[in-house]
Amino acid sequence: MSGVSGERIQTPYLADEDDFEVTLRPRRLEEFVGQLQLKEQLSVAIEAANARGEALDHVLLAGPPGLGKTSLAQIIAAELGVSFIHTAGPALERKGDIASFLSSLEPRSVFFVDEIHRLPRALEETFYPAMEDQRLPITVGQGAGARVVTLELPPFTLVGATTRSGLLTTPLRDRFGIQARLDPYTHEELAAIVARAARILDVELDDGGAMAIASRSRGTPRVANRLLKRARDYAEVRGDGRVSADTAYAALALLEVDALGLDRLDREILRVICVKFAGGPVGLSTLSVAVGEERDTIEDVYEPYLLQLGMIKRTPRGRAATHHAYEHLGLDLPDVSAALF
Ligand SMILES: Nc1ncnc2c1ncn2[C@@H]1O[C@H](COP(=O)(O)OP(=O)(O)O)[C@@H](O)[C@H]1O
Ligand SMILES: [Mg+2]
Repeated sequence: MSGVSGERIQTPYLADEDDFEVTLRPRRLEEFVGQLQLKEQLSVAIEAANARGEALDHVLLAGPPGLGKTSLAQIIAAELGVSFIHTAGPALERKGDIASFLSSLEPRSVFFVDEIHRLPRALEETFYPAMEDQRLPITVGQGAGARVVTLELPPFTLVGATTRSGLLTTPLRDRFGIQARLDPYTHEELAAIVARAARILDVELDDGGAMAIASRSRGTPRVANRLLKRARDYAEVRGDGRVSADTAYAALALLEVDALGLDRLDREILRVICVKFAGGPVGLSTLSVAVGEERDTIEDVYEPYLLQLGMIKRTPRGRAATHHAYEHLGLDLPDVSAALF
C-alpha cells in the first residue's frame, strides 16, 4: 500500500446496489430497528396529524450515510398514508423546478429533498414561504412587465435529509418543526438488522454470524447489510452456505475489514496522518489527495467513524491522529507529537 498512490481503494459503502436496498428497506415504523426516541417522537406526531387530517410538520433528518434517513422518509409517507415524492438538493436548479413539484402535490404528501444542504442558496429562500404559509411567490414575465404571482400550495410535509446539518442556514433549519439526528446503531441493533435482512434474502445466519457482522459494521445498517451479502457469497462458495461467526470472519478478512470495522481506506487515512504527516494536523484537501479519495467521501463516510473511535480528532488546522491510531496500526508513537495527546 503506497500512501501517495492515486489509486482508489474500493469502498464497500458507496457502490450502488439499489435493488438490494429496495428489498431490505424497512417499510413501516415497527420494522425500523433502533432510534427509539426518534421513532416514538415521529409516531406521536404522525398519529396526531392523522387524527386531525392535517399534514405532518416538516421533518429534518441529519446523520451520516446509511443510517436510515431515506428509509425513514418513506416510512413517514407510508404511516401518513400519503404519496412520496423524491428529489435531491443538487437536482433542483431553478425556482420553476420547485414550483412544478410543489404545485402538483396531493394534499398532505411527503416531499423528500435528499442532500438538502446542497440546495442552491438562491433556491433556499423559495422554500421559506412554501414551508410556512403554503404560498409560493413566482415572478412571471421580464423587465418592466414582470409581476409576482402567488401560487397557493396544497398542505404538504417537507422531509429534508442531510449528512451535514452544519451547512444548513439557520432560517431553513428553523422552519422544520421536527428535527432529528440519527445516531450510530449498537451492535445488538445491527445484529437485529442483519437477522431481518437474512430472513428476507433467505440466508441461513446464526447468532454468532450476526454478531460478527454487526460488530464490524461501524454502526451503520447499510454497511451491515452489505457485509452480510459478502458473507453469504463466501459461505456459498467456500462453505456450506450457512453464515456462522467463522464464515463471517473469513469473509471479512478477505474484504480486509478489521476487528474494529475499519477497511483499507480507513487504515490508509490513519497511516497517512501518522506516517506521512507525522501525526498531523493535516488539512482535509491534502489528506484527500494523499489517499486518493474525494474530500466529501472522507468527510461524510470515513471521518465520522474514525472520530467516534477516537482515532483522529479535528483541530483548527486539520485532522490529527491520536495515540489510538498509532496503537491500532501497530506503530510507535512519535516523540514530537506527544504534546498532542
Ligand atoms: N433502522 C433500520 N432498520 C433496518 N434497516 C435499516 C435501518 N436503517 C437503515 N437500514 C438499511 O440500510 C439501508 C440504507 O438506509 P438508507 O435509509 O438508505 O440510509 P441513508 O438515507 O441515511 O443513507 C436501507 O436500505 C436499509 O436496508
Ligand atoms: Mg439516503
